[in-house]
Amino acid sequence: MKKYLIITYGCQMNENDSEKISGMVEELGYSRTEDEKDADLIIMNTCSVRENANNRFFGNLGNFKKLKKKKPDLILAVCGCMMQEGHIVKKIKEKYSFVDIVFGTHNISSLPSLLEECDAKRKLIVEVLEDSDKLAEGLPVHRQFKHKAFVSIMKGCNNFCSYCIVPYTRGRERSREYQNILSEVRELANDGVKEVTLLGQNVNSYGKNLDDPVPFAKLLKMVSEVEGIERVRFMTSHPKDLSDELIEVIRDNPKICRHIHLPMQSGSSRILKLMNRHYDKDTYIKLVKKIRREIPDVAITTDIIVGFPTETEEDFLDTLDVYKKCEFDTAFTFIYSKREGTKAAVMDGQIDEKTVKDRFDRLLKLHDEIVLKQNKKYLNREVDILIDGKSKTNDNVLTGRTSSFKLVNFTGKGETGDIVKVKITDVHTFHLSGEVIE
Ligand code: 5AD
Ligand code: SF4
Repeated sequence: MKKYLIITYGCQMNENDSEKISGMVEELGYSRTEDEKDADLIIMNTCSVRENANNRFFGNLGNFKKLKKKKPDLILAVCGCMMQEGHIVKKIKEKYSFVDIVFGTHNISSLPSLLEECDAKRKLIVEVLEDSDKLAEGLPVHRQFKHKAFVSIMKGCNNFCSYCIVPYTRGRERSREYQNILSEVRELANDGVKEVTLLGQNVNSYGKNLDDPVPFAKLLKMVSEVEGIERVRFMTSHPKDLSDELIEVIRDNPKICRHIHLPMQSGSSRILKLMNRHYDKDTYIKLVKKIRREIPDVAITTDIIVGFPTETEEDFLDTLDVYKKCEFDTAFTFIYSKREGTKAAVMDGQIDEKTVKDRFDRLLKLHDEIVLKQNKKYLNREVDILIDGKSKTNDNVLTGRTSSFKLVNFTGKGETGDIVKVKITDVHTFHLSGEVIE
């Protein structure tokens, strides 16, 4: 039996695409391996959101050159966001011509026919589409977990935040018909899935381009009503589009998880304007306060970029100030990375490395303090945990998440996919500890 290895970089959207790619190649008769030496087909699903993901990809790709020499029949396919960038495909053609197949984000469903073509021709095949109206429905899926699943509800992004490559690599925003989403969720529930995570670059604008528009809040409610589904998560919310209706739907529906990921990117109104985010410091803080008032047990997490072009010390202090005022449960912090083709890449005032590093370290220090303070609120509380399995480092410890997405390691009885009551006995910056009480 032929074997395939898939390597995925980047976000959950890419993880979800990789699950579909895996499902398709398994239908062709390949079985999965984690060992590159065993593989007859290696697929690399790439990410372009920041420079270091690009570098890691090219580093790994370079290493496969030797393998390919030893095993000339090995098929090497590269796909994902980076392949939507012309200069990357050019580089592959020129310097990495041992690659067999290049395809993009809009045509993952073409992989079976590209593999067939590759078998026949044995030379580099490139098929990258600029954009696509179509959303492939009903692709086979190899899911990573039995008890939880990703469901992408839309693709693309129309926001053109000035630092971001995504609108160029994932194309224009398109929503799936809600009927298709619901039937996928029903199938997952029949298959034993307890938790679904609805994915989109900007879920709050879901449904706007459908013939029969359906607001995201309504979709969320419908998904949470599917029998067998115990928890519904979603990502990512854009602060400019988060409606009061959505806050109410979350508040009134215990199956919808108490977690909102709300990227702020910067605390400075001046930088937010340059980023093309369509909100300012005050509106963002007010939104967070409103969410916390309406849904008291909610966790709010965020994304922050440090060192956007022209960022001054004063702008950075605004970011720290918003962090303090919003008391995030956690944050993903990034150093600004210049992406070719974006508006920010040609802005004057790129910030020097030393200044950025200093700001980044100060942000991390505040982050750790506030995250720990937020986690301390959980001490001695009883929480429901969906069990993800055994801890990687200790077989006697189980691990799972609260509705608010806090990672909890705990002792007691339970199986993967069970929801158990756990009492929190200790807290740390990156996880909570506890024991099953029921
Ligand atoms: N540089 C640094 N971080 C970026 N992100 C997106 N583009 C860039 C960039 N050019 C971050 C944003 C986004 C997250 C997914 O990645 O914070 O929310
Ligand atoms: Fe990028 Fe902004 Fe779209 Fe998010 S909303 S994918 S940051 S352009």
